[in-house]
Amino acid sequence: MNIAIIGTGYVGLTTGTCLASVGHRVICVDNDEKKLEMLLEGKSPIYEPGLEELMAKSIAQGNLIFSGNTKQAIKESEMVFICVNTPPRHDGHADLKYVEKVAREIAEHLNGYKVIVDKSTVPVQTAEKVKNTIERYASEGHEFDVVSNPEFLREGTAVHDTLYPDRIVIGAESEKARNAMISLFEPLIAGKDVPVKITSVRSAELIKHGANTFLATKISFANLIAEACENAGADAYEVLDAIGLDARIGRHFLNHGIGFGGSCFPKDIKAFKKTLEVLGVDPSLVHSVESINQNAIDRFIQKIEKTLWVLDGKRIAILGLSFKPNTDDIRNSPALKIIDKLLSDGVVVSAHDPKAMDKTRELFPDIMYANSPYEAVKGCDAVVFCTEWQEYKDINLRELGEKMQTRILFDGRGVIDPKNANDNGFQYYGMGR
Ligand code: UDX
Ligand code: UDX
Repeated sequence: MNIAIIGTGYVGLTTGTCLASVGHRVICVDNDEKKLEMLLEGKSPIYEPGLEELMAKSIAQGNLIFSGNTKQAIKESEMVFICVNTPPRHDGHADLKYVEKVAREIAEHLNGYKVIVDKSTVPVQTAEKVKNTIERYASEGHEFDVVSNPEFLREGTAVHDTLYPDRIVIGAESEKARNAMISLFEPLIAGKDVPVKITSVRSAELIKHGANTFLATKISFANLIAEACENAGADAYEVLDAIGLDARIGRHFLNHGIGFGGSCFPKDIKAFKKTLEVLGVDPSLVHSVESINQNAIDRFIQKIEKTLWVLDGKRIAILGLSFKPNTDDIRNSPALKIIDKLLSDGVVVSAHDPKAMDKTRELFPDIMYANSPYEAVKGCDAVVFCTEWQEYKDINLRELGEKMQTRILFDGRGVIDPKNANDNGFQYYGMGR
């Protein structure tokens, strides 16, 4: 099938590349010139395992094209995917201005039946607004359907999640659109046991916000237990392991620490809270999820401040800048909030991350960026682990300690075994113990 992807960010680029790799002809459009320049050279603007290799394969096969020409992409396609960003507005609502802009562009260039697929995460009833916008701006006589096809990919495993999905959700109102979507996903589902959930458009939109809010709730629940454990003298690892052994609960996504970051959870729960308010539903559960998440990072920062007493002039190394391992994405990364607070306290900050230093440098140009964790901690009064990269789990604590002024270790993500830290002369401060 001929597909246009409008918005070639984390979701659009991964979706477009994966669809091209299974045989569709995909034109990916983006209006960011710098990004487009890289894409035209076959380079991925983001670090995502396996993505650049798959791009190269699909470009070579002639299935994956990058372009700045929205008009041509729309005209040549049977399906147009809206993958632009939906950032939070100042009041928490999802800002849908880019979605609306794309809807108008689609309207302008409609030249026959097309399926318009909304992949951006949007509040329930957005598809209807997209439909109305296209109807309003399109010239008469062109048929189209708007479908909601939410994306569940996780950064760091985005290619795998797209090629081997847990489930595919198709929210469509017409038989024609449903059939087109099933044909599109045929190569991903044929002969495999992938559940395909066909729903109304509104349900599909709610599934995405519901799934992300549930996952965020699970994490905040773990952080609530962690705080209770700290105050009660219990161990959150023991408690959560045992709670998670109940098959109805599960241990997955029940990891406490410095809370969830990234481009999705913080934004989506804000937007969902607003949606609930608009729908007349009590949003207090979602509100608590958000405040527990904020509290997790505040408690961690307080631990650092309390332990080190005077922070002004102290040297602290931050290990891990991305919001989670295996990505260079720093959007809403807890590490950045910690750096920001430490800098305002007068701390001299050094940092290391296997992939996210370039992006962090744009926000914090004046801190020291090291080539290795061992270089980052040189002469430091403390080291703070913010992301659980494998490289940090495998770190040689004896070597790390030898480089430091004082061996004080704060572990925001359960990266280090406390006994190993103590055996190597560190004072260890974790979460939930
Ligand atoms: C996506 C979804 O769209 C978002 O709603 C969801 O919650 C998470 O995934 P993401 O892919 O992470 O967002 O966003 P981003 O990396 O910012 O990519 C959006 C792309 O759209 C950017 O490359 C931007 O340049 C492009 N864009 C934006 C356009 O091409 N045209 C526009 O009008 C606006
Ligand atoms: C999330 C959803 O998982 C995905 O399905 C959706 O499509 C987009 O949003 P992503 O933001 O890439 O994916 O990362 P995810 O793995 O969900 O982690 C989000 C944040 O939660 C990270 O900061 C991570 O460190 C944190 N987290 C995750 C925890 O603090 N504890 C956990 O148990 C799991």
